[in-house]
Amino acid sequence: MKAVESTRTYQNFIGGTWTAGRGETYPTVNPARPAEQIGRFQRSTSADVDRALEAAAAALPAWSATPAPRRGALLLEARRLLREQAETFASTLTLETGKAIADARGEITRALNVLEFMAGEGRRFSGQTIPSELPGNIIYTRRRPLGVVSVITPWNFPVAIPIWKIAPALVCGNTVVFKPATTTPLCAVRIAELFAEAGLPGGVLNLITGAGGMLGERLVTHPRVRGVSFTGSTDVGSGIYGRASASMKRVQCEMGGKNALVVMPDANLDLATQAVIQGAYGFCGQRCTATSRVVVHELILRPFLDALLPRVRGLRVGDPTDPQTDMGPLASQSQLQKVQEYLEIGQKEGATLVLGGGRPQVARADGGYYVEPAVFTNVTPQMRIAREEIFGPVLSVLTCRDLAHAVEIVNDSEFGFKAAIYSSNINDIMRFAESVDVAMVHVNSPTLGGEAHAPFGGRKGSGAGMKEQGRAAMEFFSEEVVIYVDYTGGQRDARFL
Ligand code: UN1
Repeated sequence: MKAVESTRTYQNFIGGTWTAGRGETYPTVNPARPAEQIGRFQRSTSADVDRALEAAAAALPAWSATPAPRRGALLLEARRLLREQAETFASTLTLETGKAIADARGEITRALNVLEFMAGEGRRFSGQTIPSELPGNIIYTRRRPLGVVSVITPWNFPVAIPIWKIAPALVCGNTVVFKPATTTPLCAVRIAELFAEAGLPGGVLNLITGAGGMLGERLVTHPRVRGVSFTGSTDVGSGIYGRASASMKRVQCEMGGKNALVVMPDANLDLATQAVIQGAYGFCGQRCTATSRVVVHELILRPFLDALLPRVRGLRVGDPTDPQTDMGPLASQSQLQKVQEYLEIGQKEGATLVLGGGRPQVARADGGYYVEPAVFTNVTPQMRIAREEIFGPVLSVLTCRDLAHAVEIVNDSEFGFKAAIYSSNINDIMRFAESVDVAMVHVNSPTLGGEAHAPFGGRKGSGAGMKEQGRAAMEFFSEEVVIYVDYTGGQRDARFL
């Protein structure tokens, strides 16, 4: 099935109407065959952002007054529709990002899980009741939305990430201006259509496409905006965090990672290498949860590499629409360039490129942005390939002397997203979990992923502000109003309370 008509021009979605922007349009291409254009999209201007924000502000009173269980019911309807359209969504996702179709289907499942959880949150949008020190008095709280919020999302999870921000924003009663990554606007168009089809009133979710550099400033500093939820690079995120919080907005930034997986001598090597393969090469390593460092105990380096390298060689790189494919192309020309630069940097730094890094045959045929999965050994913690986020299928293998040394290596990073350990020693596992300077720890499981109802997010350079998903997302997108009620009919002396 062909997911799109390549010549079509797609518009912004503002106030419930598909609308042309004030700027030019721009094309996007299929990373597996860059000669193939996907469609043209609006290169919006700050005037378009203003229109979208005004539409969101106009829709706010009615939407925030809609009972939360009804807002939740609408998410349930969106979930039903997404499930029906799962295959179309997955193929659009593969077309725009080059993500292997099996992974794209996984991403849709994740979005379904988020909608399922968040729909239920409509019926749990509760405050607290608090006993007063005074007789005949009660204190209670109710939750209310922040107001208009900006949702700024990356290209690597163009369905799941927008949904895990938009769903909690909506169920809390906020109205949204959604700005997807420049290279993945079609998934965003499909998301806007999905919510409209589910019955979301016009103006509650507005979509504007275009370049973050042009639109970002307005989206994060405009006085109408009360909250900003961003996922993307640490560079952009730290700018957004500063700008948005300076104007007193609530802001959450989900950013880069340099996640390490530690393999101890008592680990099950078969499982550990499978986890490294998934973590390092799934979606070509283009996820902030990717395993980009593996820290192997020096006693087992040889057997570990003997188990790992044949698996890396066995990865099937090719057409992402083929269900047998493990790794499709990188998502863009600039991604390819960046990965190639790091392959050179690693070799110049003295690491050994033991495998991969070349352009596989399929690439030369189509001009697709393919690269072979790469493994560097003899990597030391000071090297740039061990410190900087590459966001590509490049694994750095480091060694450690013992658990304490492994923890030291894991923590010697500007990032603090995830860390994993493979071991069968409960004492080592517990010490590791308690001493690594990251926000999420995986025991005998890959660094990837997160379940829809659990908090998700990093620390240090990986995350700023409140976490995402689960109840944490509800906390982020709502605020508590505290109400004191005196029902004595008498005078309350407030001097001492
Ligand atoms: C995942 O890898 O399971 O941008 C999701 C990212 C993260 C989401 C990753 N914020 O890669």
